Amino acid sequence: MEREVSVATPIVGAEEHDNVESVLDSGRFVQGPYVEEFEEKWADYIGVDHAVAVANGTVAIQLSLNALGLEPGDEVIVPSLTFGSTATAVVHQGGVPVFADIDRELYTLDHRDLERCVSDRTVAVMPVHLYGQPAEMNEIREFADNHDIAVVEDAAQAHGARYRGDRVGSIGELGCFSFYATKNITSGEGGMITTDDDELAADLRSLRNHGLADRDTHVDLGYNYRLSELHAAIGSKQVERLPDFNAKRRRISERYAAELGDLEWLEPATIPDYVDHAYFWAPFEVQEDVIGLSGKEVWRRLNNRGVETRHRYNKPLYEQPVFTDHKGFNGEFPWSENDAEHDYESVSLPNVEDVVGKMIGLPNHPNIEEADIEYVIDTIRHFSPHSA
Ligand SMILES: Cc1ncc(COP(=O)(O)O)c(C=O)c1O
Repeated sequence: MEREVSVATPIVGAEEHDNVESVLDSGRFVQGPYVEEFEEKWADYIGVDHAVAVANGTVAIQLSLNALGLEPGDEVIVPSLTFGSTATAVVHQGGVPVFADIDRELYTLDHRDLERCVSDRTVAVMPVHLYGQPAEMNEIREFADNHDIAVVEDAAQAHGARYRGDRVGSIGELGCFSFYATKNITSGEGGMITTDDDELAADLRSLRNHGLADRDTHVDLGYNYRLSELHAAIGSKQVERLPDFNAKRRRISERYAAELGDLEWLEPATIPDYVDHAYFWAPFEVQEDVIGLSGKEVWRRLNNRGVETRHRYNKPLYEQPVFTDHKGFNGEFPWSENDAEHDYESVSLPNVEDVVGKMIGLPNHPNIEEADIEYVIDTIRHFSPHSA
């Protein structure tokens, strides 16, 4: 193998090191100045009044639904092709995920399938800005307003993406971010909830901290979902790096699309001109019929040639055992009396079925070297189904 090109790598510098050291020296590890600074910078960057830091992106979703007043058995519409915790977070809160189809071109929640999914128990719709691509927020917002339900954006993969000029995370009632190690920026582990709603923000701050209203009074069934100062010390610095990181991701991803766009077996994702993609992924769809190989086999063979790629999602959420078998809560989801209505085994959605397993993401992290980019392009251009 000539080279090994990794698909993602956290990038931290001397300033992150200095920040962490200053936390260690200060002895203040929880709810200190770095959490506050990280929240202020993130609210400012996204263009909202409040950002509430939490332990990770999954609990950001959970707390958001809790703050909206989700009751056991209430429903949340989610796309079927996304990371599992978009939907498991709903279940953890006692809610019912209702799986919608995806847009065939954009891979995000298909607004045309929402009417089929809504019921009198629906409290929210949760678009996911998948791979960094903003979902069709105008249509989703209009649907939510018509049904008087909330929009919770799962923006865990889309730091800095814009939809018609607005940053994702500022369009729904609530926006949820993850700062996991492979994301556009990281705090190691970490999450953030964004909102313009003062009351929701106050509830979220209490819920993440044991439901405390003051030092002595638990007014809610809260949690310890706080972010530590050590994590915030990294994240706060990373916010400053994000515009530069994203510009590099864009340049690399657009170059792949330009230089590989003529290949018949590998289609670059469609990106509408009214969005700014965050390029968490440089997404391509393997045309399995053309190359005569599955997306998984292409992924495997590229790995063998030293080109690490992302390859997800390979199972629709409605096929995941956790949902088909109603795993958790001692074998019974909180809505088990409604099982007949939520028999996920009978769900099959055409666009999800068509796309599943075909998506790969090429290495586009900001530290990639020019020679690596050239190697990726060359390897893919010379990729043949006849070589192992
Ligand atoms: C779409 C989506 N939602 C939610 C999450 C959960 O974030 P975390 O891993 O920080 O819990 C992820 C994480 O990777 C994600 O990709």
